[in-house]
Amino acid sequence: MKHLKKTVFASMLASVVMVACSDPNSPGVEFMPDMYRSAAIEPYVDYNYPDSATSRLTPENTIPRGYKPYPYENNDEGLTAASENLKNPLNLTEKSIAEGKVLYTSFCAHCHGKEGKGEGSIQNAIYGAVPSYLDETPNRRLGKSMKELTEGHIYHTIVHGLNAMGPHSSLIRENDRWKIVAYVQTLQGKDPLNADQPVSEEEDSTESEN
Ligand code: HEC
Repeated sequence: MKHLKKTVFASMLASVVMVACSDPNSPGVEFMPDMYRSAAIEPYVDYNYPDSATSRLTPENTIPRGYKPYPYENNDEGLTAASENLKNPLNLTEKSIAEGKVLYTSFCAHCHGKEGKGEGSIQNAIYGAVPSYLDETPNRRLGKSMKELTEGHIYHTIVHGLNAMGPHSSLIRENDRWKIVAYVQTLQGKDPLNADQPVSEEEDSTESEN
């Protein structure tokens, strides 16, 4: 009798294992399906919402998980506030600036040029006026020159874009934007590893030509 029980149990176990393994797409045996699957809302079924729409809008002020809202709007006040208040949150190293260079090469260099002098490979009338990061004419927004733009100003420009330069916020993650900002500062002749200190003339001239 004992022997028979064992045989029956073993064959039941074998069949469960075999059933579970036979179909690679099978989710396997579910003991309490209600615990795995919540009752789904079907589209186009009236669930007695006052407006009878099944597809509900997300509640106000909700944001996707992991998404960090950018608080500075795309206008003069937003730019001024970003320019003054936004500081690079990364603990910058030579490595992060080298990574910034790689990202800059992918996302900015075709317009701004490898050296940041506005000599990118895109040759088109609307991209003819890409300014050089070394330009000292105070003709940029907030009355600044390209060379003077603060880290916050550069970051804000990456997020929102400016005229022919489209916004890059959907393309580049926050940390990567800051790495690019740090690299752009080196193109402005600054040393981001040493606050906003300009690098000495000699060091600057070794990097300048194409
Ligand atoms: C499609 C070409 C293009 C790309 C790509 C591009 N830019 Fe620009 N950028 C421009 C043009 C054109 C201007 C000048 C816009 C104007 O003054 O109307 C500009 C201006 C700027 C300015 C000056 C903003 C100001 O307030 O004057 C900064 C900073 C800047 N870009 C940074 C970047 C960075 C960093 C990247 C890469 C993430 C980048 N740009 C990618 C074309 C581009």
